Amino acid sequence: MKTLDAPVKPGGVIGIIGGGQLGRMLALAASRLGLKTCIYNDENHAPAFQVTPLQVAASYEDQNMLRGFAEICDVITFEFENIPSATIEFLSALKPVHPGAKALSQTQDRFIEKTFVASLGLATAPFFDVTSADQARAAFSKLNGGGILKTRRFGYDGKGQAKVTSADQAASAFDNFKNAPAILEGLIDFSFEASVIAARGADGSFAAYDPPENEHENHILRRSTVPGRLTRAQNEEAKAMARKIAEALDYIGVLAVELFVTKDGSLLVNEIAPRVHNSGHWTIEACQCSQFEQHIRAVAGWPLGDASRHADAVMENIIGAEADAWESLAKSGALHLYGKQEAKLGRKMGHVTRLKPKT
Ligand SMILES: Nc1ncnc2c1ncn2[C@@H]1O[C@H](COP(=O)(O)OP(=O)(O)O)[C@@H](O)[C@H]1O
Ligand SMILES: [Mg+2]
Repeated sequence: MKTLDAPVKPGGVIGIIGGGQLGRMLALAASRLGLKTCIYNDENHAPAFQVTPLQVAASYEDQNMLRGFAEICDVITFEFENIPSATIEFLSALKPVHPGAKALSQTQDRFIEKTFVASLGLATAPFFDVTSADQARAAFSKLNGGGILKTRRFGYDGKGQAKVTSADQAASAFDNFKNAPAILEGLIDFSFEASVIAARGADGSFAAYDPPENEHENHILRRSTVPGRLTRAQNEEAKAMARKIAEALDYIGVLAVELFVTKDGSLLVNEIAPRVHNSGHWTIEACQCSQFEQHIRAVAGWPLGDASRHADAVMENIIGAEADAWESLAKSGALHLYGKQEAKLGRKMGHVTRLKPKT
């Protein structure tokens, strides 16, 4: 595993695995700091390719292409967590990769992730490992009548998840997932959802943004609002939870911790995203240093920026055909469109952030 001996100087190259909208906004932030990006994506058309001076379109398993990519980068990061671990191992032997293999191995698999979170003394929903239909039934009997079966790996935007209300349903949901290893979680009757976005620098410094309240529709983030309904004490607790997680992972970069806020006011960790996060997009307009710039600063070994918020903000995603209304959206706030060609159902096409004076 390699680490940086000195910060990446202006003019240096940040390698980013993944060319979606997160890679695109990372590239834009890097560019403002005088850093170049090289985006590596496994398809020819990628939102981030439109805004980066350097790019590679090749499979994440192509070692020749990965080697060539690593040669031109000073440091490597990623915008999505489902990268094959062999790819990260291969790249880590050539150049510093942040956040590193440890962060990925602890967060790619929901069972490992929740076990890790619990080991830090942080609360989660009750969860059970499920590797057979019988185990799904047995696990269901330990819950209070409601659960969610989730595949251990590769889920996002609610994919690979099924709500279940009986042992039979739990068993058939497991069969529907083609016997993929899964976890069964107890259904949390939360009051609302929130997240905390935080950064840890190469020198161990830490900065957290104010946690937004998040609303989902059809399992896709609809809206993030900051400030949300979290109390001042819950804000501080959420930030402290993120710090504990980041330190335990020797983390360098930005991470997001998704939370359930229960009716009695406790905070449960839902999942950790080892990357910049959709619920942090409002930081572009409402903070001096956005989550994207913060991530670039951290992985490049620069000092972290100021994460404090100078405005209240509401960020709304633009999903699928909603992007057709770009003209009226452009009038309504700070519009971001990701340059995606096809407005498929459920696809995140952009977002709009509206600011208000800080309360
Ligand atoms: N144990 C749970 N109890 C209640 N709701 C849940 C639970 N797990 C997930 N959800 C709901 O489903 C959404 C997506 O689940 P999550 O585990 O975050 O997967 P994804 O990777 O798709 O974001 C959550 O934001 C929440 O709204
Ligand atoms: Mg989630």
